[in-house]
Amino acid sequence: MPLGLAAALSLLSLPFAARAEDGHQLWLRYPSAAVGRAGSAAISAPDTHNRPSLALAIAELQRGLPARARQGRFHLTTPADGSWPARYDGLGTDGFALSSRKLAGRTETRIAAKTDLGLLYGVFHYLRLAHSGADLGRLDLVSSPRIALRVLDHWDNLDGTVERGYAGASIWDWWRLPDWRDPIYTEYARANASVGINGAVLNNVNAKADSLTAPYIAKAAALADVFRPWGIKVYLSARWSAPIELGGLKTADPLDPAVAAWWRAKADEIYRAIPDFGGFLVKANSEGQPGPADYHRTHAQGANMLAVALRPHGGVVMWRAFVYAHDNPEDRAKQAYNDFKPLDGQFADNVLVQVKNGAIDFQPREPFHPLFGAMPRTNLMMEFQITKEYLGQSTHLTYLGPLFSEALHADTLSKGAGSTVARVVDGSLDGHRLTGIAGVANIGANRDWSGSIFNQADWYAFGRLAWDPDLSPKAIAREWAAQTFSPAPKVVDAVTAIMMPSREAAVDYMTPLGLAHQMSVYGHYGPGPWVNTLARPEWNPVYYNRADAQGIGFDRTASGSNAIAQYAPAIAARLARPEATDEKDLLWFHHLPWTYRMRDGATLWDDLVRHYDRGVAGVESMQAQWQALKPAMDAERFEKTRVFLTIQRRDAQLWRDASIAYWQSLNHLPLPAGSAQPAHDLGWYKALSFPYAPGNP
Ligand code: GCU
Repeated sequence: MPLGLAAALSLLSLPFAARAEDGHQLWLRYPSAAVGRAGSAAISAPDTHNRPSLALAIAELQRGLPARARQGRFHLTTPADGSWPARYDGLGTDGFALSSRKLAGRTETRIAAKTDLGLLYGVFHYLRLAHSGADLGRLDLVSSPRIALRVLDHWDNLDGTVERGYAGASIWDWWRLPDWRDPIYTEYARANASVGINGAVLNNVNAKADSLTAPYIAKAAALADVFRPWGIKVYLSARWSAPIELGGLKTADPLDPAVAAWWRAKADEIYRAIPDFGGFLVKANSEGQPGPADYHRTHAQGANMLAVALRPHGGVVMWRAFVYAHDNPEDRAKQAYNDFKPLDGQFADNVLVQVKNGAIDFQPREPFHPLFGAMPRTNLMMEFQITKEYLGQSTHLTYLGPLFSEALHADTLSKGAGSTVARVVDGSLDGHRLTGIAGVANIGANRDWSGSIFNQADWYAFGRLAWDPDLSPKAIAREWAAQTFSPAPKVVDAVTAIMMPSREAAVDYMTPLGLAHQMSVYGHYGPGPWVNTLARPEWNPVYYNRADAQGIGFDRTASGSNAIAQYAPAIAARLARPEATDEKDLLWFHHLPWTYRMRDGATLWDDLVRHYDRGVAGVESMQAQWQALKPAMDAERFEKTRVFLTIQRRDAQLWRDASIAYWQSLNHLPLPAGSAQPAHDLGWYKALSFPYAPGNP
């Protein structure tokens, strides 16, 4: 072959070779399955006629079985199919049991579940074990989800943009739906099912009424058809004023019979198209959205009116507690509690009040939201943000497993020790059966779905913790790393060692010691602790840091906003004293002099600077650890992550230097020994602008 042609051919083949490890396969790569794919494994299962989820379970098992398990025999059963072991009677809906034993040299594996969806979950779990290097010959486990509704909230707009989305455009091709059902929808549903996610809110909480029109209902119905066999229900964000905008009514007052009738008819229309429609998610009277307060009605009156419309069909209302008002001078951190706590017991039983993990807004670290534990007669669901609006977006490697787990394990003490947020959310603390957890999705049309390889771990960890909030984030990181890269222990150890401290590093270089909301005006990306020009006081970083010549921090004790009184008395008593407050949350609750003595004797100022330094050093250490993994990694994912870590290192330095330069402009204090002065003066940092940072608005 002439050399020119050979070169051209090899060039042509490059994109294909490169695509192999572009991250699109997520954690479902099944690398060693390819080796053994010759011939089907022996699977005995009931007839799949009219049982699409069962058919998917069998196909997935065939697809993913690693070579080492292909010689075994597999049995899939539900109670309807006979031979049901009584010891599995306690399995929850969607739960599964896995057992295996050696018989005449062959491994017999049984996957049992009460539903076909449970079998699918069981298969995915088996494959997870198989590709994480587990011993498959002696399995004996049962697993049921602790939380009923495990939902992704897509902040996707109908024009294809994604609010706070950093992984490209929306994967929903609203324009070509319902005709064109892009194969990506199936891939999406499969990935979700593999980690137990069973719901998707399709559109942004800042909703357009158009989503509720007939053409868009038909589009949502097409997605629901694709998702159904994978066990995923669709939900829609509902714009409160839709009866006015679409129905021509003069009001959206929830107590107006015509308004209630409009919503009932709308629900009926949706259920004709989507018989298993999940329900509505509502952002009302928050950040400019309309809501029942426009008519002097409460959130409960609003939610209950929608609940009545959905109840005949089995649907639910997820009503957000992310509420604060520009005309309310009260500490923003207190407002949701003040609005919702008095309504405890007033919400219909098919309403869930959806509460963000913290009282401000998905910051790198927030103390748990005081509503958890404060509304025992209400179904409270958790809202996490998987997309990293405030944690380096899609570029920084900041594994969120520890953040989710920290929030879920916070003890509200509302019914004594052990009253964790997880037990509020899973319903066990107050005896609720309707339970839920939502994660704001980090999914977009980027080839790797989440904007970076490591961001996939946050989607994965959300699903796993939604299934079982007690799983350890480290164990989750290990299984993700094994499936995503390689089950070789040295790879799993090293990847996990990078992931586990990564979120704390981001806290350190962005907002250490309980600082929060210090980002620039540009897409919430870089640092901006000096910002004080935004329209609403509580949108400005200075509102949160309260820094001046004497000190720094937000006084939320009795001498300040007294937000601490929203926690259980024992917690409030602890938070009243800075010396008794966890130093991680110190400046969230206290305004302190720069000279305040920390537990180790250092001044607050010196300690603060050390945290920034530690954050930057943490990223440097991640870079070095990643570099050491090079021989074990494919070139493509290695290089992308390497470059992203370089950006993260630069950003970490910027956060550190800009923050320190601003604090020093107020306190005029020298840096502790060994700490370097910021590279530039404050004016240089203030002059930086990133008008096109992604994630509109
Ligand atoms: C944050 C985010 C907004 C979003 C809002 C919400 O404030 O910046 O884009 O709409 O949260 O959760 O409703």
